[in-house]
Amino acid sequence: MHDADIDARGLPHFGHIGETRPTIVDGDGAVVVDADGNEYLDFTSQLYCVNAGHSNEAILDHIGDQLGRVQYVSSADHSDVRTRFAERLLEVAPGQMESVFFSVTGSDANEAAIQLAREIQDGDTVLSRWRSYHGSTYATAGLTGDPAMRVPVERGAATTGAVKVLPPFDGCDAPFDADSPAGLAERAADHLEYVILNHGPDDVAALLTEVVAGSSGAFTAPPGYFDRVREICDRYDVLLVVDEVITGFGRCGDWFGADTEGLAPDLLTFAKGATGAYVPLAGVLASEAVTERVRAAEPAIGQTFAGTPIGCAAGLGALDVYEELIPRVRELAPHLRDELSRLERVDVVGNVHGRGFLWGIEFVDPPTGDPVFDPRVEEGDNPVTEVIREARDRGLMVGSGRPGFQVMVAPPLCATEAELSAGVETLESAVETVFG
Ligand SMILES: Cc1ncc(COP(=O)(O)O)c(C=O)c1O
Repeated sequence: MHDADIDARGLPHFGHIGETRPTIVDGDGAVVVDADGNEYLDFTSQLYCVNAGHSNEAILDHIGDQLGRVQYVSSADHSDVRTRFAERLLEVAPGQMESVFFSVTGSDANEAAIQLAREIQDGDTVLSRWRSYHGSTYATAGLTGDPAMRVPVERGAATTGAVKVLPPFDGCDAPFDADSPAGLAERAADHLEYVILNHGPDDVAALLTEVVAGSSGAFTAPPGYFDRVREICDRYDVLLVVDEVITGFGRCGDWFGADTEGLAPDLLTFAKGATGAYVPLAGVLASEAVTERVRAAEPAIGQTFAGTPIGCAAGLGALDVYEELIPRVRELAPHLRDELSRLERVDVVGNVHGRGFLWGIEFVDPPTGDPVFDPRVEEGDNPVTEVIREARDRGLMVGSGRPGFQVMVAPPLCATEAELSAGVETLESAVETVFG
């Protein structure tokens, strides 16, 4: 099937209608192949989810074995493989996690987390951050900071009880004017406390936040910020829900982003990398205290395809693979960072930031530091989209950030040192072609 057929018949996701994109027919490790036989280094992990790489034999074997036993068990009944996967997840989970509530996608994992929080808290308000992404369903798009995803969905139904706070990052579009990371941590945490206090702490059920921003730009929090967030949440009885849909399963060099921050969340949502994207599977991890309260509340929520046996089998295979890949990410992340830093030689390349195998590159106007093109307020051709196209024509897939003045780099965790270098070299030539 050619691109034209897809354009004519498909309704692609994430607004790429009418854009010519390759038809992927094959994949191996960090490489995918299109219908014309062109190979691409996949520095998107598709949608940040093929963490273990394409065509991983160990994961395929787990799926095959499970298919030979039983392919589906009601999510209301017990399944041996689901129990085993839940136990393994809890072994690698951060903090004092006690139970798992399975779902299917990242959006509905976040929906479930919000619903669980509202079931057991007095208040209904959920705080989330500007410059965030939490999903495309009504509630999760409403909690998303990115206006491109949120505004069209909110036209149909605005999420009730959703309040946004400012995220703690520097670089282009920074919401705080701080002169040191410690100052930024303090100002951003004070702001969060101010919002909670003035909203009325009793009405705030939870704070939903990514630990490292995902598609919003891979920005990390300054040291100390999440310690303060944990203290503030405890002080005002606000549940801390971390969205690890992208950062989970080794993406940022630890099992979860919360591990790197030494953070013990109350609820943690996961999806994407949980099975390496071999089967859709997502869920919510709950701390001991939350588990106890949820069990007492007995909320009637559930989904047919939550935690399918095939998904759980794929997840068990993926966790084995991550045991080996996560130390490699830690080892190779400095190399990827150094390679990407070379891009800063081009004057429109601003801040390059991220953690592990998740990086964002900002494109700014050198004299002002403002976005070189800001799709939130400008119409017309975005040169940053042109960089992504140029890279693809040269055999490298990279993603667009939210907002689209950023390019996102997120290779599968199995990418080799040589592949990382080759990919960045291709990106550099794409940037030079567009901006040179
Ligand atoms: C941080 C984050 N949360 C939630 C989601 C929603 O996941 P899904 O697309 O599986 O619904 C995404 C998707 O990209 C995400 O990046």
